[in-house]
Amino acid sequence: MKRGFIFDLDGVIVDTAKYHYLAWKNLANQLGFDFTKEQNELFKGVSRKRCLEILLEIGNREATQEEFDTWMVEKNVDYLKYIENMDASEILPDVPRVLEFLKENNIPIALGSASKNAQPILEKVGLLHYFDAIVDGNNVTKAKPNPEVFLLAAKQLNVLPEECVVFEDAVAGVQAANAAKMMSIGIGDKNVLAEAQLIFTDFTEISTNFIKDLIEK
Ligand code: BG6
Ligand code: MG
Repeated sequence: MKRGFIFDLDGVIVDTAKYHYLAWKNLANQLGFDFTKEQNELFKGVSRKRCLEILLEIGNREATQEEFDTWMVEKNVDYLKYIENMDASEILPDVPRVLEFLKENNIPIALGSASKNAQPILEKVGLLHYFDAIVDGNNVTKAKPNPEVFLLAAKQLNVLPEECVVFEDAVAGVQAANAAKMMSIGIGDKNVLAEAQLIFTDFTEISTNFIKDLIEK
């Protein structure tokens, strides 16, 4: 019987991965090298700081601490411009149906995201009211695949880890859910997310009956 549901944000609730990609690509171009969509896969679920470290490795660039800090800010300012006008049209298909069903059944819902921009995004797309707890990049010290973000979310929901379900689109996120001893449900590509206990392309493949069984059985 599952009593707590934890959702990642980027790539699970909203398709913000494309905006993160554009902002990193702009920075890479400014620094004189390219950054491809394939390379962007490595950035999913990964903290902003770690993303910049990987980006600099890709471009074979050294950075002083001052440059590093400036580029982190620049990337985020650019990203914020992309998400400024986000609205409910950017919610991924059938996410509201699942959230609504959980709410109707009084199942607590948490966000478990690496992003420091999570709360304003949920507000912009009008989904904030569904969440009983928000654990994001501002609350954790250890990034996914460390389970900290999900364990903290379970604690805030007052639910045991083994009673939680996690929806994740990133390999690091699936690993974090598994490490937390939670049920990991991958949202995306079966080949990429093979470590997840169950994998769906998106929420349109997750029936209300399936969720009902998770909370009842
Ligand atoms: C994760 C994204 O949700 O958040 C990563 O998948 C991103 O790509 C990370 O780097 C941190 O996000 P932010 O908004 O704090 O820069
Ligand atoms: Mg994600």
